[in-house]
Amino acid sequence: MTVTPQRILDVEAVRADFPFLEEFVDGRPFAFLDSAASAQKPRQVIDGLADFYRHSYANVHRGVYALADRATAGYEDAREKVRAFLNAASEREIIFTRGTTEGINLVAYAWGLDNLGPGDVVVATDLDHHSNFVPWQYIAGRSGATFATIPVDDAGDLVLEELDRIAGLGRIKVVAAGWVSNALGTVNPVELLVAWAKEHGAISVIDAAQAAPHRAIDVQALGCDFLALSAHKLCGPTSVGALYGRAELLERMSPFQLGGHMIRQVRHDRTTWGELPAKFEAGTASIVEAVGFGLAIDYLQDIGLDAIEAHEHALVEYALERLPEVPGITLYGPPASRRAGVVAFNLGDIHPHDVAQVLGFEGVCIRAGHHCTQPLLRRLDLAATNRASFYLYTTRAEIDRLVDGLHLVSGKLG
Ligand code: ALA
Repeated sequence: MTVTPQRILDVEAVRADFPFLEEFVDGRPFAFLDSAASAQKPRQVIDGLADFYRHSYANVHRGVYALADRATAGYEDAREKVRAFLNAASEREIIFTRGTTEGINLVAYAWGLDNLGPGDVVVATDLDHHSNFVPWQYIAGRSGATFATIPVDDAGDLVLEELDRIAGLGRIKVVAAGWVSNALGTVNPVELLVAWAKEHGAISVIDAAQAAPHRAIDVQALGCDFLALSAHKLCGPTSVGALYGRAELLERMSPFQLGGHMIRQVRHDRTTWGELPAKFEAGTASIVEAVGFGLAIDYLQDIGLDAIEAHEHALVEYALERLPEVPGITLYGPPASRRAGVVAFNLGDIHPHDVAQVLGFEGVCIRAGHHCTQPLLRRLDLAATNRASFYLYTTRAEIDRLVDGLHLVSGKLG
């Protein structure tokens, strides 16, 4: 038997790819600990975008000249890269979107409005980002369905014992959940939630915005019906993402947005829809951004998603070991074994925005606020937290700078 050795991430080699590290604050590069908000870009993506604009740019699926052929080939190659990244069965199941939020809205509107009604139950979780919580709450309200959420315990884990109670509320039709919590880093048992959805004949919708950058995903093995992700969190451009949907469901669904490219025939009395994936890609696509998405996938796959996940796991273990040294700190979220590269905390009574601002003067970049998870923060009885988040270019030395910075904040404002 051949054993494939686990690849090890060479963080200094990775860092040499990221031009933002050539920017200095008081002679030191930024310690960028805000990758859960948006990841930095390697030169392979930045240069590839400029290259595509220089040599291959035109609108796609329309022109009959060489430049348009190049652009269309680049755009469709990117779709194939996303398909392979997620191990979807067909490129027809990959819809380019503006990002995770648009992907979830697509399913909520196009599937939800036609398939939900009174007596049906739409299930999300109290850990979810507003991008999953709000569309489903809204569409449940519009259709007369019940909106229910899986609660969270004090450690930031889903309370799965509540599933039976939720099943008693009516016909479970949608189970929509984030894979990894952006606010606490909790890795949810999505396999179990997908299985529970199947058991009830419901569709499963996975918000993979915070999972896709950090771990290998196989939608066929997971068995989910839909999965949404964004490029900007995985070193790609903003304004592009993808929705994976099982072809059988996408084919039966009404379109989401209407206009150019998504039609088969337009007549005064009736318009018919194009084939997948065009049916869900109205208007001019984010062409170059999609190409950049593909380049970011190439970049991550060259390094290895397993190596990235292991690197971040070691960082989160290190952060959870070092942060308690700071007087007055309270940490939130599960242990490292059930957590991705995110640490959330507060420092005594010091307002999180003040903490983040003082750290910012030191070149340490973190996020403060409710992190688009107001139901979760209300559950934890918090108004806001500080959040540091890690990625493939993060080092232990940057976590040391965070800890030193927090000692400084504590001394100044504590
Ligand atoms: N969803 C992004 C975050 O968690 C913006 O910061």
